[in-house]
Amino acid sequence: MNLPNMQEAKRRDLNTHYRYEAPLVNNQFKDQKYFIKTYGCQMNVHDSEEIAGLLENLGYVPATSELDADLIILNTCAIRENAHDKVFGFLGRCKHLKKENKNLKLVLCGCMAQEKSVVDEIMEHHTYIDLVFGTHNIHELPNYLMNLKAGLNIEVKSNEGDVIEVGENFKRDSQYVAWINIMYGCDKFCTYCIVPYTRGKERSRKMEDVLREVNCLKEKGYKEVTLLGQNVNAYGHDLEDGTTFAKLLENVALTGMDRIRFVTSHPWNFTDEMIDIIAKYPNIMPYIHLPLQSGSDRILKLMGRRYTKAEYLALFHKMKERIPHVSITTDIIVGFPNESDADFEETLKVVDECQFDGAFTFIYSPREGTPAAKMTDSIPLAIKEERLHRLNEIVNKYSNMNNQKYLDKIVPVLLVGPSEKGQDKLYGYTDTMKLVNVQCDKALEGQIVPVKITEAKSFSLDGIVAEK
Ligand code: SAH
Ligand code: SF4
Ligand code: F3S
Repeated sequence: MNLPNMQEAKRRDLNTHYRYEAPLVNNQFKDQKYFIKTYGCQMNVHDSEEIAGLLENLGYVPATSELDADLIILNTCAIRENAHDKVFGFLGRCKHLKKENKNLKLVLCGCMAQEKSVVDEIMEHHTYIDLVFGTHNIHELPNYLMNLKAGLNIEVKSNEGDVIEVGENFKRDSQYVAWINIMYGCDKFCTYCIVPYTRGKERSRKMEDVLREVNCLKEKGYKEVTLLGQNVNAYGHDLEDGTTFAKLLENVALTGMDRIRFVTSHPWNFTDEMIDIIAKYPNIMPYIHLPLQSGSDRILKLMGRRYTKAEYLALFHKMKERIPHVSITTDIIVGFPNESDADFEETLKVVDECQFDGAFTFIYSPREGTPAAKMTDSIPLAIKEERLHRLNEIVNKYSNMNNQKYLDKIVPVLLVGPSEKGQDKLYGYTDTMKLVNVQCDKALEGQIVPVKITEAKSFSLDGIVAEK
């Protein structure tokens, strides 16, 4: 069989700046239907908005589901093992659709495409896929589709190349809230994490490019932007011209955008200047996602997280003191190799002290190629599951407790779309990122309105529009 040469594909580096300015409508694709299935974090969600923009520039139109699509794109995540299983499960179903629609093209992209083992697996068992491309060459998708050869095409680059400005060519999911990449990649190499391998080294966009994007969104009527990076407080370091995340945040605040958010903050290197800027500008939302991962110094060291429990707590309390009514959420991993009962108890102690507004909790998943995957591990899965269950009960208790503080209060909510909780409701978010289902006139969609909270649950609030 004539298999594509992976090494050759990898050798082609990216070094061109690419900007799509005019639609590339091409009769080859006119009115063909595309469907994108997105897994993983906000980076992937936003990459899918870029992919949709590129496809519509080519003449594609959205399909209602994978069933009526001519092009199915799976934008994948590699963070944990179960993501892998879900993707191949979905692919198996798509393979059958190819029998009904001979023109159907199947594409796999995203973080899994950057894993050599996944590409090998595809080359061996899933040659019905038409195209695999990686995270560093999304902007090349139109070229790949126009030049697609019969059989499996693999376009994965190991070199991240320069930052590529794609202009305002996203097909954004919302008309009110927008994601903005401020940087790509991650240099932290936490020992359990695959992201530095799938997304490459840290590269910041120029401040002027980010500000241009914010201003453009403001002109279009957007009310909120979220600045995206795996580690936003490292923003600017690689530009080596004194640019910092604090400076960027301040300049974004000065554009007058109504609401500004950012994810994710690493507790290491979160400066006092950043805290002061967040506290100073009312349009920077008082919400910080600050992953803890573990409360045990021993485990934090093995994870390569670069902070101790005491340093995390000091930062947490400083934020709580200086930023009025800030809400703080976190990520926690249980069952890192050889995490003892005592280590786990340390994590619970930090959770009790911080009383987080919310937490994403995970069982450690070994990722091939990371240092932690080579560590021996004597802790049975059943114990890890039990720890996760205990942790979740405590996390949910605090999340509920924090939500109860909102009861009967009047808070500003940006209403972003129809609520699943009823025909007469919209859903939106408080400045502190609490989800609220609001009984109101549908015409209020896209506005920031005062909402009286009538009920507080563990994961959401209910409310009605308050009299002005
Ligand atoms: N850059 C962010 C995290 C991105 S990944 C940060 O450093 O905070 C999102 C979350 O997935 C991480 O915070 C971590 O809690 C979890 N995670 C990452 N790798 C994991 C693994 N191998 N097993 C289980 N959870 C993992
Ligand atoms: Fe992964 Fe650590 Fe980078 Fe976050 S900071 S993306 S956990 S390596
Ligand atoms: Fe997953 Fe890649 Fe994001 S591994 S969590 S989609 S950066």
